[in-house]
Amino acid sequence: MKVIVGNEDYISQLIADEFVKQVNAKPNSVLGLATGTSPLKVYADMIKANKEGKVSFKDCATFNLDEYIGLEGTHNQSYRYFMNDNLFNHIDIDKARTHVLKGVGDYEAYMRQYDDEIASFGGIDLQILGIGSDGHIAFNEPGTPFDSLTHIAELTESTIKDNSRLFNDISEVPTKAVTMGLKSIMNARKIVLIATGKNKAKAIYNLLKGPKTEEVPCSILQDHPDCTIYCDEEAYSLVK
Ligand code: GLP
Repeated sequence: MKVIVGNEDYISQLIADEFVKQVNAKPNSVLGLATGTSPLKVYADMIKANKEGKVSFKDCATFNLDEYIGLEGTHNQSYRYFMNDNLFNHIDIDKARTHVLKGVGDYEAYMRQYDDEIASFGGIDLQILGIGSDGHIAFNEPGTPFDSLTHIAELTESTIKDNSRLFNDISEVPTKAVTMGLKSIMNARKIVLIATGKNKAKAIYNLLKGPKTEEVPCSILQDHPDCTIYCDEEAYSLVK
């Protein structure tokens, strides 16, 4: 794994540049996208590059990592809403080619075909990840098997607490989600992970220095052939 340390603006721009480079080299790239606050600046920089004519996403396809069970795509905390609001509505992408797991209705049927659907598009070329304070990636909580594909996950108390800051009340945070599995994520050809703030320091330490164990889901990335970790000084502070 490669590590790049810098302030949030700097690392976000570097990651956005990776997406622009990827899409310019292969206009029909398959992009793996993440939600959470960590990638927000990356998406803002991608929107800027698109508006400035430096890249076009019109032939890309996207697959998102996860979705809360119980939230409609129109709910303002659903990940479909997040993606439309923070990226898709502002770039020239064909929304029919953007895939986000469903959280309502026939979500189990859609979940079961998700990995095959990714494969039918040729697999993910570039995947962005955030990281949970407990080391989760997507919604793969500690203890998730390394060979997992897309599945239903129970959120841990710590994740519910972390994510409650975005809801009116902690009681509104869904307790389950559908998520790409750790194997689904490892199938991506290239991975970039972004982490900022002190709250992520322990997870980044475990990712970079700890043993590879299912108790620390992100530690599986140690085995990925092309994975770069971008973090700010605070997230990197325990590694130094
Ligand atoms: C959620 C998402 C993850 C994300 C994590 C961190 O649990 N399922 O994909 O990485 O939150 O979020 P944030 O970037 O807001 O700290």
